[in-house]
Amino acid sequence: MEIIIQKTAEEGSAVGGRIVAKLIQHKPTAVLGLATGSTPLKLYREMIKWHKEQGLDFSQVTTFNLDEYVGLSADHYASYSRFMNENLFDELNVPTQNIHIPNGLPENLAEHCAAYEREMVDAGGLDLQVLGIGSDGHLGFNEPTSSFASRTRIKTLDQQTVEDNQRFFKEGEEVPRHVITMGLGTIMEARTCLLFAFGEGKADAVAEMVEGSVSAMMPASVLQFHRDARIILDEAAASKLKKADYYKWVYSNKPEWQQY
Ligand code: GLP
Repeated sequence: MEIIIQKTAEEGSAVGGRIVAKLIQHKPTAVLGLATGSTPLKLYREMIKWHKEQGLDFSQVTTFNLDEYVGLSADHYASYSRFMNENLFDELNVPTQNIHIPNGLPENLAEHCAAYEREMVDAGGLDLQVLGIGSDGHLGFNEPTSSFASRTRIKTLDQQTVEDNQRFFKEGEEVPRHVITMGLGTIMEARTCLLFAFGEGKADAVAEMVEGSVSAMMPASVLQFHRDARIILDEAAASKLKKADYYKWVYSNKPEWQQY
């Protein structure tokens, strides 16, 4: 794991933006795995800036989102489809047919999940997967005890996640209990995993993910087995890491060719 600690979420997201931009410059047909939640919003603003100000071209890029709520149509205000359009795709030139987000209302759920996996393989696999982390350590919607070998499938949300995500729903409207999510096995096949965590509320989960035991109780700890997992943190999210000084030392001593 590479632990990148920046002073603020803005600075961390700028590093992330450079990593994404470098990938697309090097491979214009890059396949990106994308995430929702409040954490990647600043990264998405950076990507839009790269596109609008530096001419970064997304016209050959393909994207796959991690997850979606079961029961919400793509145009529901709280659907991840709507979230992605409003916060990223409306501002970029990714062709609509290259954008993949699980369908929250599939005719046949199991078949839809299997097809989603096939589409990723047909696209050449994920070059880079953007990730956030839930307060209980979930990746995508892979709640504690999710199998490390899991693939895209239906999951039932933990009550904690339902509470955490209630803020995205109008008063009186319930967070769906079921979701479709890429599995941990799916995520682990991405060539690079780029996880962002900002704020004190993520400090415990981050410390367990990076320095704790690998356990299905902390789904994100599976990234300890990933050959290229980069974890971008602000000071607050890094505040419970025992070896924070070491990670900063490593980052400030990166050879020039390895810098972002
Ligand atoms: C949701 C998403 C996750 C995300 C998590 C954290 O559960 N499915 O992909 O990482 O929320 O969200 P936030 O970034 O808002 O803290």
